[in-house]
Amino acid sequence: MANLFSPITIKNIELKNRIVVSPMCEYSSIDGFANNWHLVHLGARAVGGAALLITEANAVSPEGRITYADLGIWKDEHIEKLKEITDFVHEQGAYIGTQLAHAGRKASHEKPWLGGGKQIPFDQPNGWKSVSASDLPFTDTEEAPVALDKAGIEKVIADFKAAAIRADKAGFDLIELHGAHGYLINQFLSPLSNKRTDEYGGSFDNRIRFLLEIIDAVRDVWPAEKLLFVRISATEWVDGGWDADDSVALAKILKTKGVDLIDCSTGGNSPLQQIPIKLGYQVEFAEKVKREADILTGAVGLIVKSDQADEIISSGQADLVFLAREELRDPNFPLRAAFELETEVKWPVQYERAKFHK
Ligand SMILES: Cc1cc2nc3c(=O)[nH]c(=O)nc-3n(C[C@H](O)[C@H](O)[C@H](O)COP(=O)(O)O)c2cc1C
Repeated sequence: MANLFSPITIKNIELKNRIVVSPMCEYSSIDGFANNWHLVHLGARAVGGAALLITEANAVSPEGRITYADLGIWKDEHIEKLKEITDFVHEQGAYIGTQLAHAGRKASHEKPWLGGGKQIPFDQPNGWKSVSASDLPFTDTEEAPVALDKAGIEKVIADFKAAAIRADKAGFDLIELHGAHGYLINQFLSPLSNKRTDEYGGSFDNRIRFLLEIIDAVRDVWPAEKLLFVRISATEWVDGGWDADDSVALAKILKTKGVDLIDCSTGGNSPLQQIPIKLGYQVEFAEKVKREADILTGAVGLIVKSDQADEIISSGQADLVFLAREELRDPNFPLRAAFELETEVKWPVQYERAKFHK
């Protein structure tokens, strides 16, 4: 059996293989509600054989959305459709998590396919004033966010907590906190975007405080047997920014906080980033964090082939592989990979006739 298809048990959840559908914003919601697009998008990939799916960034508050069309989990009415989705995914023998997120200064944007996803000024329809660690815009051409005061920070933490309660009611097995790609948690972590002088800024310990307080609040209400992952940008790819050693130091602390796995992405917090794009370009960060912090990690980023994915698991560079765009090209990637790697896996009974060439 190919190692990509070896099961892994995290707490009492046994994932049938190592393939995770990485979070992917669909920008297809109205007022935060999931709909049939989300059911089919996630459902198809569960049918396609992934062991675990993670929903797109799920906004903990309306102002925490990247766009007005983001998925949301800020009110109880959101739960019903999400529960339909988790039920369907479970029926396929897969697990499902949701990525709780707040966009911070990257909020109030247009959908990417409408005019390139530019910022919508706060006083225009579908726009609002964004918040961040400091009043620094992402680029010079964007409006400056409002730096959160202590009450504002406490409100965001409470929003994450309330969202975690709803995620449990919606049947999710896992929460992934979105601490990557330059969104609000990342804005606090990074010395480039966090210029605060209070207990949430300055030193490493102060910059990680916001994330740790969110984790404590979520842990308070999230069942102990369910999983908690954190996605980080393991490096900003900018001199003087957050780097891989910071990520290892953070991962060691997150391990003591009951975080089960670090999902190692990179970048997204500075327009100055220089990313050396190539196949598997972020795997080295999953490997470093796993080795030096002794915690489970997920590798993500241009993992596109079955033997490449298998090699990441076989060589022990990461415990899970997260696939985004390859899963868009082929929702049945896991079934195809099993075929290519000559590993017997269970197919959906409805599709069994495609399992062999006969
Ligand atoms: C359409 C699309 C939407 C995405 N939305 C999210 C998101 O909601 N949250 C997130 O953490 N990453 C998001 N990403 C990033 C992916 O999860 C992944 O980290 C990235 O695409 C690299 O993996 P890939 O090379 O397999 O696509 C998105 C990527 C794509 C292509």
